[in-house]
Amino acid sequence: MGVAEDSSPMGMMFDTPRFANTVPFFRFQRFGHSHARTDSDHKLVVVMVGLPARGKSYIVKKLKRYLSWLGFQTKIFNVGDRRRLAGSTDEHEHGPTPARQGVGNDASTCADCDSASAMDKGLRTPSCTHCATRHSSSFFDPDNAKAKQIREQVALDVFEDLLRWLQAGGQIAIHDATNSTIERRSALISRLKSETDVNLLFVESICTDKDIINRNIKLKTQSPDYVGIDPEVAESDFRARLRNYERAYRTIGAAEEKLNVQYCKIIDVGKKVIAYNIQGFLESQVVFYLMNMNLESRVIYVTRHGESEDNAAGRIGGDASLAPNGMKYAKALSRFIDRRRVDFAAEVEENNRRLAHVMASGSSSGANSEPESVSSHGSGAAAPCSMPMSLRRHVQPDFEIWTSMLKRTMETVEYFDPLKYRIKNIRSLNEIYAGKCEGMTYEEIAREYPDEYEARQLDKFYYRYPGIGGESYADVVLRLQQVIVELERIRHSVLLVTHRAMARTLLSYFMDIPTTHMPDMDLPLGFIYGCEPRPFGNFLRVWRYDPEQDDFDEIDASSVLKIRYPKIIMPEQAPTSPVLPSPAEIAYPSIR
Ligand code: F6P
Repeated sequence: MGVAEDSSPMGMMFDTPRFANTVPFFRFQRFGHSHARTDSDHKLVVVMVGLPARGKSYIVKKLKRYLSWLGFQTKIFNVGDRRRLAGSTDEHEHGPTPARQGVGNDASTCADCDSASAMDKGLRTPSCTHCATRHSSSFFDPDNAKAKQIREQVALDVFEDLLRWLQAGGQIAIHDATNSTIERRSALISRLKSETDVNLLFVESICTDKDIINRNIKLKTQSPDYVGIDPEVAESDFRARLRNYERAYRTIGAAEEKLNVQYCKIIDVGKKVIAYNIQGFLESQVVFYLMNMNLESRVIYVTRHGESEDNAAGRIGGDASLAPNGMKYAKALSRFIDRRRVDFAAEVEENNRRLAHVMASGSSSGANSEPESVSSHGSGAAAPCSMPMSLRRHVQPDFEIWTSMLKRTMETVEYFDPLKYRIKNIRSLNEIYAGKCEGMTYEEIAREYPDEYEARQLDKFYYRYPGIGGESYADVVLRLQQVIVELERIRHSVLLVTHRAMARTLLSYFMDIPTTHMPDMDLPLGFIYGCEPRPFGNFLRVWRYDPEQDDFDEIDASSVLKIRYPKIIMPEQAPTSPVLPSPAEIAYPSIR
């Protein structure tokens, strides 16, 4: 185990060759690309630690999304999923639990559905396939030796899979489990000793707010462990499981410090962070990101600027002003966001009210149905560790608008009231720089630089425009890294008025779209994408500008983020339009 070795010389990180796909590159190597490894290329295992219902899965998913977006091959290895497949409950559990009294030992029958309480509630399911692989609270009893041995074995088996995946070319693997005892963590540390090129980082999630834990418990009753189980039965079983875990739980501390490992403790989703012995490059990226987490209810809106003179002429790059259509869009945008801001505040209020009702009533049917309906109303209030309601009341809703430093985005926000919005112009949001192709049309590039044109068609993500300052999408990701961390840090809504390549890059992060698809996302002018943080990722809402009504309509988000799969079109085959128009472009010819 390489405990804390710096794995990335800065030169490699920021300086890519022009065609990065042909030369090793630390950040955006391809999986399985044999020559993409270098000696300094350390791998990382992030081992999660923490009691159930402390927001670990939330952290894990978010971290994975961020690291993948940064170009690291990242994978989550979830021990719970494997545990559910690790045989029938009947073989391993001893002693009746409320849900299992009077159950026989036949593994082929459904123990839980045969139980009196489940029968009373009419929960008997025809196939019972879920129950056959589900474990009730007694399986987590630290005194249940047989079950404990199985749990340890499953965790180690998953760890072996994880190591195999790293050996096969993966870069960052996340062991998603409670790992809540010193014994378990020591076993993982020992196993890593022989892996010299793999660093280890423990990330412990601690939550001190009872309201938040209770809310997470409600969400847990909807986990695969409780499919088809009455919510009240599920909740009481989950609480018993928690008590079992609490009996054996030891927070990370002296035992791990003696072994010189790296760890960080995230307390109340980043409110307090303890970092110990963090030395590696990847580890410091992870800790920095986690320190900036924030679960406030808010929306990150992304839109492109209004149509510019260059858009109208089909020219890329440049610094043109808005065309008349673009001015019209700018006015409509400010009207829409003014309205949306009020609507969103009302949605959050309504969500908080309903959530408070569910928590206060302890209604188990509400526990099952409410989070879903909460989600559909646009609040992040159901996030596993969002801000307690008592604090929410004191937070003044704020709203920032970020543009690039190019005229077309700054002009697009001209109609916003600066007294109501904090407007910032950020150079990192400038459009991808096309080097010596700036100001040209795609047709001109195809004619004058056919090799460049073809190279970009073949590998748009890695292709870097020729000429001083020319960029690739891979470069743009690096440029936006700080913007993303800042967006994660601030607690209020933001409208980003930016450009096509930038909008693709930002939405890839928020919507977890693989970098390989990023450059082909279909994002015409005239759309607003609203990303709302939720417990299991970001929820997307989309509005489309209708020039006739001079207003926006909400449209079905699921059909929107279409990927135009790379279709290689040679210049000679595409004399007029090398890029196929999207349905939106057909519907709104002025939108391009
Ligand atoms: O055409 C508008 C524009 O924003 C250009 O300035 C930019 O070069 C281009 O889109 C990015 O899109 P693509 O990567 O598909 O060429």
